[in-house]
Amino acid sequence: MLKSVTSLFTAVLLTLPVVALAQPHDASVANHQPHYYDIADFGMQGDSITFADHIAPILQRSCQSCHRPGGGGPMVLMTYDQVRPWAPVISYRTAIRDRMGAMPPFFLEKNIGITEFVNDYSLTDLDLAMIQAWVNNGAPRGNPDNEPPQLVFSDSNEWSIGEPELVLRSRDFSRPAVGPDWWGDIGLIPTGLTEDRYVQSIEVREVNDIPPDAGNGTVGGRYVMHHVTYTSGRLSADGNEIEGEEVSWPIHEVGRNADIFPEKAGRLLAANSALSLGAAHMHSNGRDTNAYLEFGIKFFPVGYQPQYSDRGPRTGNGIDIDVLPNKANQEFHNYVVLYEHTKIIAFEPHLHAPGVRMCMEAIWGHNQFTLNCVGYDHNWVKQYVYEDDAAPLLPKGTILHTIGYLDTTTANPNLADPRNWAGGGRRSVSNMFIDLGYSVTLTEEQFREEMAVRRAKMRDRNAYDVGCPMCWAPEYMSDAQSLAQGND
Ligand code: HEC
Repeated sequence: MLKSVTSLFTAVLLTLPVVALAQPHDASVANHQPHYYDIADFGMQGDSITFADHIAPILQRSCQSCHRPGGGGPMVLMTYDQVRPWAPVISYRTAIRDRMGAMPPFFLEKNIGITEFVNDYSLTDLDLAMIQAWVNNGAPRGNPDNEPPQLVFSDSNEWSIGEPELVLRSRDFSRPAVGPDWWGDIGLIPTGLTEDRYVQSIEVREVNDIPPDAGNGTVGGRYVMHHVTYTSGRLSADGNEIEGEEVSWPIHEVGRNADIFPEKAGRLLAANSALSLGAAHMHSNGRDTNAYLEFGIKFFPVGYQPQYSDRGPRTGNGIDIDVLPNKANQEFHNYVVLYEHTKIIAFEPHLHAPGVRMCMEAIWGHNQFTLNCVGYDHNWVKQYVYEDDAAPLLPKGTILHTIGYLDTTTANPNLADPRNWAGGGRRSVSNMFIDLGYSVTLTEEQFREEMAVRRAKMRDRNAYDVGCPMCWAPEYMSDAQSLAQGND
């Protein structure tokens, strides 16, 4: 049997076009494999690993931003006594690494594609090996004198972007303790700006009257605003509506990080403009709640002009979604042709509860590159921002291919009911398949300048820049080099 399958497979291999050879990937939740390492492979002894010397620094770097008093995590992981009871669970949750349920929640698959991301607090192979060896040896404390000083966290209500220069406040809204989900328009917030300014960072937070210790252990119990999409634009003469071109802003979703725009691509908040909070989704959380949103904004200096402002295309498919019940490894595919040279700034996979993974690849000529694959957990909304010198630089004509992986079996704990067929839609029981990340388009000259910078860092002709298919193309190499040397 095995033999005939193999020969049938070989026959298929010989007759099908190359495209069909793309490696299948088992993304089913049931087959998620934790990553276990042997500390000996790192030249260390298992029994030498202690909380004081090895584990506390990992927790400070990658966990305590949430697992601290007043943080977003369900328990505090600051002292040895707080951490010790959780040791086995910590070992397991960190070993899940890039799959649903992993801690810390940064689901980037590091064994493929681009690996340089802003604010990457994920764990290294050595971190995992140390945690596992430590737990297997009874999680010893070691010498307390060696523990790093406790981190001091400021009030959790502070802005992660630092003190904003402008704070805009939405109108008040409220939700009854029990009620249906609500979709609607929260209205306009005039910015009061008297000149055009470019935004460097923006952070949105919900302020509500839920007591800090009253959450039920999930973010759903701490907030009522699930998400809101918003735009901005100049106000009409009567101030009642937005006129002319609108600028769209990254979505606000509960638990989402602040947005920091790249140096070259600040986003316009115009004179006499307003934010327009168009599509909001609220849900009841078990107690009558009054709330409003605050938008904390920091600007680039007065007079700043962005080098790049045009946005690249959206990828994904919001409409033709057909999610089968009780089935793992369902795949969605979407293809978008880039009509301009494009730099991808951020990748933000967006699926709904069945989502388990998303990949983005670039097809250019006969080259097909995986840019990135990330695990997906619908409890988290993660945006992966590329380091500037590693961001994909794609020539016009590239086809961006996004692949979503879904699992509607009972193995997926995020599903409401594995028996239901589901189509596309905005409700969480419906489905989505889009990349909410963003990109900028580049002129020919900008594209060459960006590549010249990359080329200068490449060791030789054999160096490889995963996201930049033309970085080593000979005709571009000479152009880019002469541009870099100012000989153009
Ligand atoms: C961005 C915030 C954040 C970071 C960073 C973070 N956690 Fe968590 N952690 C959470 C939240 C929220 C939950 C509960 C929801 C869930 O399980 O996904 C959680 C759950 C857990 C759990 C499971 C608790 C249980 O009841 O079973 C463990 C264990 C854990 N985290 C350990 C860690 C460790 C270890 C790190 C660092 C290596 C870390 N976390 C980093 C927010 C965070």
